[in-house]
Amino acid sequence: MKLVFATNNAHKLEEVSAILGNSVELLSLKAIDCNDDIPETAETLEGNALMKARYIHERYHCDCFADDTGLEVEALNGAPGVYSARYAGVAHDSEANMQKLLKELEGKENRKARFRTVIALILDNKEYLFEGIVEGEIIKGKRGGSGFGYDPVFVPQGESATFAELGEEVKNRISHRARAVEKLNQFLNER
Ligand code: IMP
Repeated sequence: MKLVFATNNAHKLEEVSAILGNSVELLSLKAIDCNDDIPETAETLEGNALMKARYIHERYHCDCFADDTGLEVEALNGAPGVYSARYAGVAHDSEANMQKLLKELEGKENRKARFRTVIALILDNKEYLFEGIVEGEIIKGKRGGSGFGYDPVFVPQGESATFAELGEEVKNRISHRARAVEKLNQFLNER
């Protein structure tokens, strides 16, 4: 089956494609000639994932899915959450985002956090949501050089290393995104 993944992030495509296997032909936005900057202005991860999937479905009339991820910190009432990419103001400035997060958590005992990924799938004109969560905590300073975003300050439960220290292979096995994609994969296989 053909499925459009509403992303142009080659890295994500590869990661998701490895989980979905050969039975799914994954197409990027570029592959369907979509160069639009798809709006993601909802106030929840679910809302954003659905907004992106619907945008593609309405215009290209194809089966498709989109994802959205956020870091939810318990002591900050779930922030930065849906605003994770632009927590410090400028989109995708990971260094500034991490510094802001560490500052907000200064003096706080509770460092519990989780990454949550939501995938919205539109298949045969029906909508489905899948969620992947990895629990963990925010440490007091950055550690490790791999990955992206908040990886250097996030230690997943059961590990002593940060995502950035664990490296991509380990991270991709246990990550929020992998868990959400596993659920999508299971759903597709059961159909
Ligand atoms: P997106 O929805 O995948 O674009 O993720 C939104 C933002 O969440 C990113 O810009 C990162 O700041 C953060 N983020 C998402 N996934 C990860 C991850 O696996 N590690 C660290 N940060 C992440």
